[in-house]
Order: sequence, then C-alpha cells, then structure tokens
Amino acid sequence: MGSATNGIRNGTGTVGAGTGNGMGTDPGTGTTAGIGTARAAPPLIELKRVTKTYGEGTAAFQALRGVDLVIGEGEFVAVMGPSGSGKSTAMNILGCLDVPTSGAYLYRGVPVQRLSRDERALLRRRQLGFVFQGFNLLPRTSAQENVELPLLYRGESAKARHATARAALAAVGLAGWERHTPAELSGGQQQRVAIARALVTNPAVLLADEPTGNLDSQRGQEIMALLASLNRERGITVLMVTHESDMAAWARRIVRFVDGVVASDSANETAAAPAAATATSAPPVAPPPQAAAGAAAREPQRGAR
Ligand SMILES: Nc1ncnc2c1ncn2[C@@H]1O[C@H](COP(=O)(O)OP(=O)(O)OP(=O)(O)O)[C@@H](O)[C@H]1O
Ligand SMILES: [Mg+2]
Repeated sequence: MGSATNGIRNGTGTVGAGTGNGMGTDPGTGTTAGIGTARAAPPLIELKRVTKTYGEGTAAFQALRGVDLVIGEGEFVAVMGPSGSGKSTAMNILGCLDVPTSGAYLYRGVPVQRLSRDERALLRRRQLGFVFQGFNLLPRTSAQENVELPLLYRGESAKARHATARAALAAVGLAGWERHTPAELSGGQQQRVAIARALVTNPAVLLADEPTGNLDSQRGQEIMALLASLNRERGITVLMVTHESDMAAWARRIVRFVDGVVASDSANETAAAPAAATATSAPPVAPPPQAAAGAAAREPQRGAR
C-alpha cells in the first residue's frame, strides 16, 4: 500500500490524484496528470458487495446487504429510498466515518479497508467533504472560524486559513457574512457555511446527507443550485441523499436504496435543464447577501459590504 499511502500524503499517487489543485482550478487536470499514462483510471468510487451489520447476536441488524455501486469523477448523484434503507450507512462508509462489515470500498482503485486509521483520516480530510442535514456548525463561533476549522486541523498558517476561508465563503455567496455566528444566520445561510467548510479543503467529492432536509423548499432549491454549480464549475463529484424528488431532480443520476441494497440506478435525463438554465442566467455561485432575493427581502443587511 506504499504508493497509495504516499498518494494520500503527497497528492501525487493514485489516491492523491486530483488533490493539490488550488481553489478554482480544474480538478480534472490534476487527476489526469496524477494518474499518468500507464493505465486507464479506476473509477473514483466503487463499492463491491458491501454489507454493514450493526450490533451482534440476536440484536444484529444488517443495514446494508450487498451494495454494488460505481461512481465516476464529476458525477452528480442523488441517493433516494425509504427511511431505514441504508442511505446514511452507505454515506458514512463512503465518507470513511465507518467501515463495512464485509465487501470492499475502493477509492481511485485503492481498497480503503487496507489503509490504516490515520491514512483513512487523511483520505477523509484531503479528498472528501461532508454536509449534513443539521449543518453541524460550532455555535458562538463565526462563519469564518467554522470554515477555517478543517484548515486548522491541517496545520495551515493563520494567514492562509483566513484567505482560503474567505474565498470559500464568497464562493457560497456569503461574502460580508464572515463574522456572523450560526445563531445570526438563516438556515439556508448556515447550510452555505457548512458547504463552505466542506469545500475549503478543495475536496474531490462532496457527500451530503439530506442537505436540504431542514430547509424550506425555496432555500432547498438555492442549496441545490449551489451544489449543481459546484459540480458543474469545479468538477466536484456530488453525492447527495434526499427524500424529495424536486431536490433529486437536480442530479444527473438517481440511485435508489431499498432494504440495504441498490434497487434502481438510472440517469436523470432532464437534470441538465435546470442546471443549464442556471448556468446561463445566474452567476456560477449564489449571489451575495445583498442580492439574495429572499434573504434580502426578509433580513437586515448585517455585515454586508
Ligand atoms: N449505529 C447504529 N446502530 C444500530 N443500528 C443502526 C445504526 N445506524 C443505523 N442503524 C440501522 O440501520 C438501518 C439503516 O439506517 P440508515 O441510517 O442508513 O437509514 P437511512 O436510509 O439513512 O434512513 P433515513 O432516511 O431515515 O435517514 C436502520 O434500520 C437503522 O435503524
Ligand atoms: Mg439517513
């Protein structure tokens, strides 16, 4: 596993391909260069007959019963399915927050279960970004500091952290809101901060578990537009769990879980329509607070520049 390990550490090997790009550069370029010319690139993500059993003995519950899933670089996938069908369990495994009971998870062809705990943590920090339904921001901590946190863990200098976090906040339409704490932000704005925090490390993959679950439908649509633009403009692979078909409609592929397996997996041919419309009629990211239609109408312009 030496080369894979080095790749994660240095951004040069298999797992590291696609890292090391500055914010705003094309992730595809790094990937192609990193993988080299020897072989065809393995898929970004592959689950092979993945199972997950919680508990033991008579209390054991098999949440995943053999999931096969291949996700390519640059895809935008919605994961749907009934409550309890294993969606979050699968997302946690993909995000290296949990490990399968059996089966394999390959990230850029590297079997994740063969990585050490530290290597998995590196993979998580360098390649994967997370967005949760409940935002999971630190309270009484400014948007700026929340977004800086992953960079602090990475040991970046204060100066670099400030600049990168500001850019990430601007990219989600929150320039001017850096000093606001979560309590001073709307739900939609808090989710934007959470997305900025996920983006600040320049991940290849954004994993979002019901990112619009706590938002009204207008805010939900805005978050989806943002995720779609990140996918389109930056080539970030987006995997998003949702219960709502009008949110899933943004994705180009819909994977449906039932009883711990993938029950259907189909292209969403109409997804390009709203995405393309947004691309031509709006900036690639959400407008700043001054211009955000709903927010501007309802909220005082604190901190707006
Ligand atoms: N830590 C755990 N310990 C025991 N059982 C768990 C654990 N996490 C999940 N489960 C069980 O595994 C099954 C799948 O849960 P999971 O959270 O993946 O479902 P989900 O598809 O995300 O559902 P929802 O749409 O309600 O979020 C459920 O029956 C759940 O009760
Ligand atoms: Mg869930």
